[in-house]
Amino acid sequence: MLLVAVLFLLASFLRIVSGSDWCYQSQVTCNHTCAGPETWGLVAQNCSGRSQSPVNIVTRRALQDERLTPLYLTGFQETFHSHIMNTGHGVKLDLPSNMRIHGGMLPATYKAIQLHLHWGKDGGPGSEHLIDGEQFPMEMHIVHIKEKYVSLSEAVTDRTGVAVLGFFFQESEFVNKKFGPIIKALKYIQQPNNSTTLRGVSLDMFTPPQKNMTKYFRYDGSLTTPDCAEAVVWTVFEDTIPLSRQQLTAFSQLQFSDGKPMVRTYRPVQPLNERQVYYSRGHVAAVSTVLLILAALVPSALSLQTTA
Ligand SMILES: *[C@@H]1O[C@H](CO)[C@@H](O)[C@H](O)[C@H]1NC(C)=O
Ligand SMILES: [Zn+2]
Repeated sequence: MLLVAVLFLLASFLRIVSGSDWCYQSQVTCNHTCAGPETWGLVAQNCSGRSQSPVNIVTRRALQDERLTPLYLTGFQETFHSHIMNTGHGVKLDLPSNMRIHGGMLPATYKAIQLHLHWGKDGGPGSEHLIDGEQFPMEMHIVHIKEKYVSLSEAVTDRTGVAVLGFFFQESEFVNKKFGPIIKALKYIQQPNNSTTLRGVSLDMFTPPQKNMTKYFRYDGSLTTPDCAEAVVWTVFEDTIPLSRQQLTAFSQLQFSDGKPMVRTYRPVQPLNERQVYYSRGHVAAVSTVLLILAALVPSALSLQTTA
């Protein structure tokens, strides 16, 4: 009896290890043995490393770094045609490599390769990173690799080979027309490996206005799907992208390969361990305003005390 149990466990363990069939927690059921986030370490050893992503960003523990100036984004206004695809784990948009980022203490110039999204169920919590424990309904990742590399697999051999820009979404009363092309495309890519073409779009349609991109968090982490390579310089922006409830909900019509609704496509937060999260200089304005208010209040508080 014991032997049978051991063999059974071994068989399911081997099935998890051998298959690259990792999945999100929302896909794990008693009779469906895909490898959920708790066992990604068996699928790819990197996933149990000490510098994993996403993380919960605790703002009062983040350190300001004056050198984290606004990033320079080039080619974000240029329009392009691209494939949008249901990957079986999410939605991915291939990007032409004439879009580049540098500055803000990035160790090199990076070129964009793809954009993808993580979301919840019907507009519920779905972001990967959290800010002070808050989970947003969706998060977009624009993945870049150092200019000198030709592919993501080449870039992940370098600790800083990949730079990902992360953007949170927030539910709005109004429809965000700039996201119309992506939302419309979803109905053509309901099943894994379906793809369609997006025409005449640009990255600045999908990102906040550049003047609102000065506030961001920076830390060293990993890809958030297996093989979880620890090769990512993360830039997570504070400003959010508005989408209506209906637009957010549209992502839940997509399907995983088992035909179930593609929902809660995020990895749970990982321990920060010995890492430090930094925040950009863009926060200075807010901080110095607080200091000015304090400076104005302290003398009056002191004078109240002496008269009392
Ligand atoms: C999506 O993929 C399924 C399964 O491979 C296929 O039957 C269907 O025709 C595809 N749909 C489109 C719009 O390409
Ligand atoms: Zn991602």
